[in-house]
Amino acid sequence: MEFIPYGMHWIDEDDINEVTNVLRSNWITTGPKIKEFEDALCEYIGCKYCVAVNSGTSALDIAVQSLDLPAGSEIITTPFTFVATSNAIIYNAHKPVFADICRDTFNIDPEDIRRKITKNTKAIIYVDYAGQPCDIKEIKEIADEFDLYLIEDACHAIGAEYENKKIGTFADLTIFSFHPVKHITTGEGGAVVTDNKELYEKLSILRTHGIDRNTMDRFGPDASWAYDMKYLGRNYRITDFQAALGISQLKKLDGFIEKRRELALWYNELLNDTWFVKLPTVKSNVRHAWHIFTVLLEDSINRDHFFKYMKASSVGVNVHYIPAYSHSYYIDKFNFDKNEFSVTEDIFKRIITLPLYPKMVKNKIEYVVEMIKGYKNEGK
Ligand SMILES: Cc1ncc(COP(=O)(O)O)c(C=O)c1O
Repeated sequence: MEFIPYGMHWIDEDDINEVTNVLRSNWITTGPKIKEFEDALCEYIGCKYCVAVNSGTSALDIAVQSLDLPAGSEIITTPFTFVATSNAIIYNAHKPVFADICRDTFNIDPEDIRRKITKNTKAIIYVDYAGQPCDIKEIKEIADEFDLYLIEDACHAIGAEYENKKIGTFADLTIFSFHPVKHITTGEGGAVVTDNKELYEKLSILRTHGIDRNTMDRFGPDASWAYDMKYLGRNYRITDFQAALGISQLKKLDGFIEKRRELALWYNELLNDTWFVKLPTVKSNVRHAWHIFTVLLEDSINRDHFFKYMKASSVGVNVHYIPAYSHSYYIDKFNFDKNEFSVTEDIFKRIITLPLYPKMVKNKIEYVVEMIKGYKNEGK
C-alpha cells in the first residue's frame, strides 16, 4: 500500500483555473478577490464581517490585538491545541492561563474555566477540537457573568454547527485557517469573522501595517497619496490568487464535510468492536466538521509503539496535540504545573490521529482498520 497521509488537500481544475485567471490579471495581491472571498465567507457563515489574512496564526494574533486589553491581562485557553492558539496571547504581551479539557470531547472544560478566572481575566479563547464545537452555551454564560471577550479558534471547525447555527456566529471574533490539511485551503491563509463593526475596522487595518488606506484605495486618477498609520499593525495580507482559490474551494466545502463525515462513520462502524480503540464521542447538539479523526487507545497499549507500527504499515498517523504547556518555551517561561491538567495528560498519552481527508477512498479506511486490528501488543 502506498503511504496514506493523515490529511490532504483537494485541488481540482476549477481551482487551478481561478488561480491562473488572477495570475493573468493586473491585481495579484490586495485586489478585488480579497473582498469577494470575504463576502463569500460571510454569506456561508451568516455573519456580518470578515478579514482574510495570510494564516490562522496571523488571524489569532490580530484578533487578540484588536481587543486592546491592558498589558499582562490573563486569557484562558485550552492546552490541547496547536501552539498558535496560546502563542497569540503571548505575542500580545498577555498571560496564557490554561484550563483542563473534557474527557469526552477533548474541548475546554467550562468548569475549569470558572476555576481559573481572576480579576485579571479578560478573555477566553476556546478551540473546537477536531471540528466538534465546544460547550458554547456554558462558555458564553461565563463570559457574560465575568464580562469577558470570547475568541473562538475554529481552525478545525469551518462549516460545523452548534444547535443548528454555523460556527462563526457565536464569539466576538472567530478564527479560521486555510492550511492544506484543513477543510478548504488557500495554500496558507486564515480569516477572522465578527459581527462587531468597530473590531472589523480595526482588524482590516491591523492586517496591513495599521495603515488606514490600502494600495487599492490609493490607486487610480482621483485617489490621494495620503495615508495614516493608526496602530502598530503588520503585513498579514493574503494575495488575490490565494483568495481566488479560497472562493473556489468554499463552493465545495459542504461536499468536503459530507465526505469526511461518511469516512468517519465508516471508521466507527469498522472499529466498533475493537477492544483497545475508543471511538470519538459526538454530542447530539452539534454538527461535527471532522477535521481530524482521533481515537483513544486502551491503557495497556503503548501509544508510541502502536504509532511506529502504523507508520511502518504505511499509515500516516499523528498525535494532536502535545499539550502547549509541555513545550520547552512554555516550561522556561511559565513552568505550568502538569498536575493541574490531569485529563489533558491522560488523553495526550493515549490519543492517536488516523488518516482522514475527502479524497480518501473507503478501501483505504478498510486498510487502516485492518492494520489496527492486526496490531500485536508487544510494546509494553
Ligand atoms: C487549532 C489551531 N489554531 C491555529 C492554527 C494555526 O493556523 P495556521 O497554520 O493557518 O497558521 C492551527 C493550525 O494548525 C490550529 O490547528
